[in-house]
Amino acid sequence: MKIGFMGAGEVAQAIAKHLLPFGHQVMLSNSRGPDSLADVVKELGAGAIAGTLQQVAEQDIVVLATKWHTVQSVLFAVPDWKGRILVDTTNRVTSYTPVILGDISGRTSSEIVADLAPGAKVVKAFNSVPMIWLQDFSPSKPKTAFFVSGDDADAKKVVSDLIDEIGFCSLDLGSLAVGGRIYQLGGPLLGVNLSLNDRFVL
Ligand SMILES: NC(=O)c1ccc[n+]([C@@H]2O[C@H](COP(=O)([O-])OP(=O)(O)OC[C@H]3O[C@@H](n4cnc5c(N)ncnc54)[C@H](OP(=O)(O)O)[C@@H]3O)[C@@H](O)[C@H]2O)c1
Repeated sequence: MKIGFMGAGEVAQAIAKHLLPFGHQVMLSNSRGPDSLADVVKELGAGAIAGTLQQVAEQDIVVLATKWHTVQSVLFAVPDWKGRILVDTTNRVTSYTPVILGDISGRTSSEIVADLAPGAKVVKAFNSVPMIWLQDFSPSKPKTAFFVSGDDADAKKVVSDLIDEIGFCSLDLGSLAVGGRIYQLGGPLLGVNLSLNDRFVL
């Protein structure tokens, strides 16, 4: 698959490194243009390229991996989502020192993302685990569980299958409104590290 990343930071690079060994192609983007990512894509190696936000939005799956305060402008750069799958990895932190959370008015942050990307099939994934836990890129890496939620069953299956294929374990928690709340910022499953132990798989 061709997977585009809106963002090229910690989340984008970590997920890209897990995708590349399985033959997927990744395209990363940032606010400074593709040339500024030359070293990053070189470091990632074969299968990685840089592009514009618009080029990223044309890939088979698009991963939103920017800080919350940029989400609106990043998503508005794409005029028509054409039914594409948009994986929301974000958490609604607008400032880290001091910590300030973005207003979501009682909804879930991924519902806000879906509102800002009309026509996209939003799947919430990868947001609840710090990337520092995912730095083993070897074939024997831990089978970390990732919660998945979304309102389009087919899109959710595509993302879940991809998570499983690259050596992790997807756990479907339902819709963005119900499931998303459980592992978004402030939810009971945020920062929970579940790893399937192969010794118990029959
Ligand atoms: N880090 C984690 O462990 C972790 C885990 C789970 C979820 N998250 C969430 O995932 C999201 C990304 O976190 P991160 O740690 O990867 O952040 P990060 O390292 O700061 O990366 C953010 C990326 O977004 C890019 N960006 C900023 N403005 C942009 C724009 N207008 N258009 C395109 N790209 C733009 C930045 O590049 P330039 O500034 O160079 O443009 C940078 O490459 C956040 O919402 C965070 O809460 C993080």
